[in-house]
Amino acid sequence: MATHTGGLTATHTVHVQGLVRGFGDRAVLNGLDLRIAGGEFVALLGRSGSGKSTLLRALAGLDRDVAGSGLVEVPEKSSVVFQDARLLPWQRVLDNVILGLGGPDAHERGRAALAEVGLSGRERSWPNELSGGEQQRVALARSLVSEPELLLADEPFGALDALTRIKMHGLLRELCARHRPTVLLVTHDVDEAITLADRIVLLDAGRIAVEQAIDLPAPRSHRQPRFLAYRESLLNALGVEE
Ligand SMILES: Nc1ncnc2c1ncn2[C@@H]1O[C@H](COP(=O)(O)OP(=O)(O)OP(=O)(O)O)[C@@H](O)[C@H]1O
Ligand SMILES: [Mg+2]
Repeated sequence: MATHTGGLTATHTVHVQGLVRGFGDRAVLNGLDLRIAGGEFVALLGRSGSGKSTLLRALAGLDRDVAGSGLVEVPEKSSVVFQDARLLPWQRVLDNVILGLGGPDAHERGRAALAEVGLSGRERSWPNELSGGEQQRVALARSLVSEPELLLADEPFGALDALTRIKMHGLLRELCARHRPTVLLVTHDVDEAITLADRIVLLDAGRIAVEQAIDLPAPRSHRQPRFLAYRESLLNALGVEE
């Protein structure tokens, strides 16, 4: 089995080497190597079924039943955000945010996190009184309130409409600039990856097949010629005709 350890190297927060994961006799991850520097924002692209969620789950330590081998080193403090907010419906919004957070200042920290995602005043609401986008903002607040060193996000905006998604991009960028976690964001959306990431990695045949550093001045927009060039080469690598 993979070693899961809090031991960090000086420059890399995430270190994956020779990671193998499979279901039955089919290997999904097949000797995958990946390093992510502290504070770096990496977006993970790949076709449906290529193993993105399998990799994320391995990093999150959520795959204890899955057969495999290889080295996985991640920081001790990590948080995961999924496509659906996964809030506990019987807990109010603030209680969802501070779930598992100890200490006398938990409520205060939870309120501050909700303020950061623009949800001050909704502390006592129930999750089902919130829109999908608002619930996802609660999930972001919950994931950041513990000040994780590593944020793992699996298509966190996949279920949101286009406009809400663009707003969430701005919010995530702001939050990351302030808290500086290392981020691995799984996404289907090439534009989202180019908008947010320092580096994009593409998963194919069980390994990282393409790595692309994104060097674009802010604010990033598809009106930038280089944005379009990145998009074209990534879509090509994904085998998508534009
Ligand atoms: N619990 C499981 N049991 C059996 N096979 C599984 C299991 N989880 C994933 N797989 C298989 O492993 C492969 C990779 O799945 P994974 O969910 O990692 O893909 P993905 O890249 O996240 O896809 P998507 O973009 O559709 O979310 C798929 O072929 C899937 O059917
Ligand atoms: Mg997936």
